[in-house]
Amino acid sequence: MNIEIHLIAFGTPEYDEAVRLRYDILRAPLGLTYTPEQLAEEYNQIHLAGFDSQGVLIAYLNLTPATEEVVKMRQVAVASTWQGKGIGSMLVAESEKTASRLGFSLITLHARESAVPFYERLGYGLVGERFEEVTIPHFKMEKTLRM
Ligand SMILES: CC(C)(COP(=O)(O)OP(=O)(O)OC[C@H]1O[C@@H](n2cnc3c(N)ncnc32)[C@H](O)[C@@H]1OP(=O)(O)O)[C@@H](O)C(=O)NCCC(=O)NCCS
Repeated sequence: MNIEIHLIAFGTPEYDEAVRLRYDILRAPLGLTYTPEQLAEEYNQIHLAGFDSQGVLIAYLNLTPATEEVVKMRQVAVASTWQGKGIGSMLVAESEKTASRLGFSLITLHARESAVPFYERLGYGLVGERFEEVTIPHFKMEKTLRM
C-alpha cells in the first residue's frame, strides 16, 4: 500500500478536497453541514492529509492549537473504501510527530463513542464522562507526547 501523508494548506484545492471528504464521512451521515464561518476559522490550523498512489486525497486530520502546550486533534476521517487498512493509525502517528516538532506536549480530542477503541489502541486515555456533540455521544481523550 503506497500512501503518502503530508501537510496541506488552507484555501488550496487540496483543502477543498479535504472538506468534501470530511462532509461525506463526518457530516452528511448526521444531516449536518459546515458553515462558511466554521471553515473560515481554520485558516491558521494545521491540516494533514493522506493520498493514494494516484494522488487522490483519502484521509484527513486537523490539529488546532489550544495553548502553547496543548493541541486538539479534530475531524479525523478516512474515505469509506479505505477504512480498516491502517491509514487512520498512520495519520494519527504522523500528526503526533508534527505536534511534537511544533513543541506541543499534549494532544486532546473529542472521540465519537464508536471510535474510542481506535484511539485507545493508539495510546489515548479517556478523560471524564460521556457527552453529546454534533448530536452523538462523545468522550474526551488525551495523550501525552514524548519530547
Ligand atoms: C475511525 C477512523 C478514523 C479509523 O481509521 P481507519 O483507517 O479505519 O483505522 P485503522 O485501520 O488504522 O484501525 C486501527 C485499529 O483500530 C480498529 N478500529 C478502527 N475503527 C474502529 C472502530 N470504529 N471501532 C473499533 N475498532 C476500530 C481497527 O480494527 C484496527 O485494529 P487492528 O489494527 O487490530 O485491525 C475511520 O474508520 C473513520 O474515518 N471512521 C468514520 C469517521 C470517524 O468516526 N472518525 C473519528 C471521529 S472521532
